[in-house]
Amino acid sequence: MRPVELSPRLLAIAHQVPMGAHFADIGTDHARLPVWLLEHGRIPSAIAADLKEGPLSRARQTAARHDLTERISFRLGDGLTPLGPEEADAVAIAGMGGETIASILGNAPWASGGTCLFYLQPMTSVPDLRRWLWRNGFVIEREELVREDKLYVVITARGGEMAPLTPAEEWCGKQDRDMTSPYRGEYLSMMLSRAERALEGLGCSARLKDQERAKRWRGLVSELKQMKEEWIAWQR
Ligand SMILES: C[S@@+](CC[C@H](N)C(=O)[O-])C[C@H]1O[C@@H](n2cnc3c(N)ncnc32)[C@H](O)[C@@H]1O
Repeated sequence: MRPVELSPRLLAIAHQVPMGAHFADIGTDHARLPVWLLEHGRIPSAIAADLKEGPLSRARQTAARHDLTERISFRLGDGLTPLGPEEADAVAIAGMGGETIASILGNAPWASGGTCLFYLQPMTSVPDLRRWLWRNGFVIEREELVREDKLYVVITARGGEMAPLTPAEEWCGKQDRDMTSPYRGEYLSMMLSRAERALEGLGCSARLKDQERAKRWRGLVSELKQMKEEWIAWQR
């Protein structure tokens, strides 16, 4: 059997998992991530959890095909509930909406304790997830952009206190001069266009509520433009 192949999204997570980690994959579905980590000798064993029996049985099939059934503990359940607090120090929650990821973290009080690294890969609502993280006792340690059919973000977070994010940082993540990312310029342009379109949609409304919202969106657009200019200047 050829080793399992990962998509760029999951590969970005796999490369970050520390050697010898106690790893759990929440919403594992096909269990490719734990199987890859085991096949590459990065972890001794893994927990593969999913809310539904169907995906979990797919996970069991992948493990069986790769002769790794004995090294994966399969757990059925919602979010982090099938895990004990001390069982994992590296947890992936990938391929779900940002709001689902936030609710999974919020439902496990131990998660913000600081000893566990979380690799979060939201498919939607990324700004909402960033906002939720800094407001709910998590520090964003790193972000990586990867390209598949489109750009995706992998957020590495752990429990702790972080400086509040500005609206533009919630929208696009923090940036600094030392960052290297081949996709950041494109990501900033894409997110700026999205914010501009939202602002245009509000522009012609005479309702006071929409005018107040438009003011906030204008602030965001202007901050995003500055962020993009700063990024371009750093790349020269
Ligand atoms: C699109 S798949 C992602 C599979 C894999 N993690 C990836 O990124 O390719 C999403 C999986 O998350 C599971 N899921 C959704 N909500 C969940 C929850 N609250 N707890 C555990 N698993 C969940 C679904 O059953 C499904 O198998």
